[in-house]
Amino acid sequence: MLVRIRTSTPAPLGESRGLPLVDPQARQIRYLRLSLTDRCNYRCTYCMPEEGVPHHPRGEVLSLEEMVRLVAAFAAMGVERVRLTGGEPTVRRGLTELVAALASLRTSSGARLEVVMTTNGELLEELAGPLARSGLAGLTVSLDSLDAARFSTITRRGELARVLAGIEAAQAAGLPLKLNTVAIRGFNDDELGAIAAFAWARGVTPRFIEVMPMAGGRLYVPGALLPAAEIRAAVAAGAGAALVADTGEGVRGLGPATYWRASAGRWAGHRVGVIAAMTENFCGSCNRLRVSASGQLHACLARDEAGDLRAALRSDDPQALERAVRAVVGSKRDGHLFGVDGSGGPRKAMVSIGG
Ligand code: 5AD
Ligand code: SF4
Repeated sequence: MLVRIRTSTPAPLGESRGLPLVDPQARQIRYLRLSLTDRCNYRCTYCMPEEGVPHHPRGEVLSLEEMVRLVAAFAAMGVERVRLTGGEPTVRRGLTELVAALASLRTSSGARLEVVMTTNGELLEELAGPLARSGLAGLTVSLDSLDAARFSTITRRGELARVLAGIEAAQAAGLPLKLNTVAIRGFNDDELGAIAAFAWARGVTPRFIEVMPMAGGRLYVPGALLPAAEIRAAVAAGAGAALVADTGEGVRGLGPATYWRASAGRWAGHRVGVIAAMTENFCGSCNRLRVSASGQLHACLARDEAGDLRAALRSDDPQALERAVRAVVGSKRDGHLFGVDGSGGPRKAMVSIGG
């Protein structure tokens, strides 16, 4: 079904239009994650309970028009890249039209806004072509196992074959790809090398993520955390070579991942990313903001506080949105409260904020 997005002129921003977003730690915000929906066709065990989590009523979820206005405002304040997340973004009606509208926005420096997306891949086979044609600049697909039975266990409803077909379709459509794997001790720690090799054989960079205690720790399995150092050792064993830090001392790209490179052997030169929120805290360099599907702006994945951008978008005050955004950015702190024992996480579930 064709969905039309009315492109009204974005609400004018206040006097400071064009001033970059800079938080109290002097980090400039260039990157935004936007959740398109709090619904998901999977029920990954580390993300939500079997029965799912309560959804926002439709009226509380931002419309596609509101999302375009919102992102246009962030682009005017210096955001250069937006990542569409969920829930599962591909279950949102009008996705390709939204991507096209966002990809035609300009940033404050006049460049085109870069629009990328994270997906579980279940619906990707049909969507990859249309998304590429809409101007999507890249895709991250979650893939926690290459074993069909394990894959169904961890996602509760996913089908590995569909995701693999989706990955193939995305590559055929020319979409730059990354793979995300949540590393879980006792579940997939014996196949991290195989997953890395699967990615490398396709010219894709694998990334491994330490499992985080979301949802008040309710879904956290004690002992499931596989520390980044062990993740690297497992991948190195699978690659048959040592991993060396990829870019000198910093080893950080734009995001929270650190990158490593196989030093020798069959996969020499291939890269792997590790996202270690638990054991190698990266809060000091965090430059991201997250907007939930209901328009709540979160300065930190690991905390519950949020600013209500939906109210600002729906108010008559043309400066309300920028004011609300700057208030949250001004409160962005340095450091999360996650404990390796599963304590200290936020009450919100990952599905409500999109990773
Ligand atoms: N810990 C770590 N990663 C998680 N994700 C979802 N829940 C968790 C969690 N508790 C990941 C998904 C996906 C990304 C959006 O976030 O697997 O790759
Ligand atoms: Fe859905 Fe992603 Fe949560 Fe899995 S991790 S249930 S795919 S939102």
